[in-house]
Amino acid sequence: MSAPGHPKGEYRNAQQGENPASARFKDQVAIVTGAVGGIGSAIVEGFLAEGGRVGLVDFNSQGGQAYEQELRKRGHEVCFVHADVARFEECQAAYDRITRDLGAATILVNNVGISPKTDGRALKVWEMPPKEWENVVSVNLNSVFYMTHLATPHMVKQRQGRVINMSSVAGRAYCDIVAAHYAATKAGLIGLTRHWAAELGEHQVTVNALAPGRISTPLLKTVPKEINDAVAQVTALRRLGTPEEVADACLFFASDQARFVTGQVLDVAGGWLMT
Ligand SMILES: NC(=O)c1ccc[n+]([C@@H]2O[C@H](COP(=O)([O-])OP(=O)(O)OC[C@H]3O[C@@H](n4cnc5c(N)ncnc54)[C@H](O)[C@@H]3O)[C@@H](O)[C@H]2O)c1
Repeated sequence: MSAPGHPKGEYRNAQQGENPASARFKDQVAIVTGAVGGIGSAIVEGFLAEGGRVGLVDFNSQGGQAYEQELRKRGHEVCFVHADVARFEECQAAYDRITRDLGAATILVNNVGISPKTDGRALKVWEMPPKEWENVVSVNLNSVFYMTHLATPHMVKQRQGRVINMSSVAGRAYCDIVAAHYAATKAGLIGLTRHWAAELGEHQVTVNALAPGRISTPLLKTVPKEINDAVAQVTALRRLGTPEEVADACLFFASDQARFVTGQVLDVAGGWLMT
């Protein structure tokens, strides 16, 4: 089951998938930003299916509240907080509320991201209004600093933590579908991932990034269908990815199986824009 209004997960459903033998996140709290979106909700479902408690942060308050209700009905421990992650005070309030309701998180997934287009087209440098640039930097990059700044003191104290940043193949290679603000912020997340992995490593906190290719989510609707079809054709696996395929890689980084993996970027792109 996915968040209301979003495509249904192909193979993951937290209710069906629950299996105590593979409850990798039992007794752990994960925070997911952009949790009501396509990839975010698949990640939420993944943690819940394996015994975790999840704090959901998103500025879609209607969708978030309905999703929270639905998850609680299914017996899950979740807490949705409406926040604009571009603002530090709202991140602080969201972090505090989740900590109060579920306990302090040892997993943080900085998943939120936007990729604005104008009439389905990425604006060139000479066309882009500075306000649009600033907004993308605030949502895609500043929020990741804010949330990580808030979440890491507890992880350091516990000597246990996982930070996962949602980059993109567009942060690793030139991609004409997106604009420069998106490419720059996603490349910025790779720099942050490396730097924080080094800073936090001695405290047993790992920091890794995912670089998805073209994944079937509402974000894809910002460009015409023909563009997405064309991408599928030049991808080694000749198709778009699913949110669950990104969630699986995210759960790996969050799990104990990845305890010796840090500072890495994993493409989940079906062989598109291979670097
Ligand atoms: N879909 C893809 O093809 C693709 C490819 C590469 C990377 N990514 C990255 O994966 C992540 C998730 O993408 P998605 O496709 O699921 O997007 P999506 O548009 O489906 O979901 C994004 C979510 O973030 C929320 N959000 C947006 N701005 C916010 C803000 N200021 N404060 C709080 N919440 C906010 C939205 O309400 C939405 O629920 C993003 O970082 C995106 O850049 C996606």
